[in-house]
Amino acid sequence: MGDPAIFLTGTGTGVGKTVVACALALRWAAQGRRPRVYKPAESGCELKSEGLYPADATALKAAAGDGRPLSEICQYRYALPMAPAHAAEEEGNPPEIEKIVDAISELRSRPGPLLVEGAGGLLVPLGPGTRMSDVARRCRLDVLIVAPLGLGTLNDTQMTVRVAREEGLSVAGIILNDLTGMESPSTRRNPSAIEELCDAPLLGVFPHISGLDSGMKESTEAGSIAARRLGEAINYVGWNSLG
Ligand SMILES: Nc1ncnc2c1ncn2[C@@H]1O[C@H](COP(=O)(O)OP(=O)(O)OP(=O)(O)O)[C@@H](O)[C@H]1O
Ligand SMILES: [Mg+2]
Repeated sequence: MGDPAIFLTGTGTGVGKTVVACALALRWAAQGRRPRVYKPAESGCELKSEGLYPADATALKAAAGDGRPLSEICQYRYALPMAPAHAAEEEGNPPEIEKIVDAISELRSRPGPLLVEGAGGLLVPLGPGTRMSDVARRCRLDVLIVAPLGLGTLNDTQMTVRVAREEGLSVAGIILNDLTGMESPSTRRNPSAIEELCDAPLLGVFPHISGLDSGMKESTEAGSIAARRLGEAINYVGWNSLG
């Protein structure tokens, strides 16, 4: 089996894609596999003195120990918290799918695993006439879906799996993310229900990490407190099937 090339998507925004992606990147890095990360477009970037700051791309880069500059890891950044296509309507510089495909192709030509984090879910408008799913399809990336563990996930996760398959994408697996740490009848039943309903492998339930906040994104490098907390969570997921 060759190196994995994963498109990490979710049932929506804020479901824990970056948290799970950082855990996977840390795992690969700890195995000495020199992972590379890529975030095609990031919205909601804070404006700092050095320009728009992509928090997700920064976290991914730190976790993976990817030495490439942030400008290569995240080519398109926007201040507005909107779909990239819509933020670009206001701010200019719309994501060009060909540039994104070229960048990912170049990364795939190098040895080592590749992890691409989408923005929002699969059908989010990326650029003029394109959606996030086009990145995975054009680059033949296997899709890993992050979904919340609790109530409401059954419908959203099935819809995401269906869309992925309709788009001709291969679903490598689903990770249910315990966003709240609150146990309920649905959190107990959902893992087996997801496997029954989606006919896709459930790689595991990613545990709730108390105290994990957005500040984590700036400090996920190996040895940091955030990396240690993520490292404890890593073992709850069966990553091996990803290669
Ligand atoms: N397992 C977890 N335990 C505790 N907090 C979590 C967990 N997963 C995610 N969070 C928190 O939920 C929030 C959203 O997570 P994250 O940024 O990873 O989502 P996302 O899907 O990448 O969002 P976006 O669509 O903006 O890229 C963050 O504040 C994060 O710290
Ligand atoms: Mg994210």
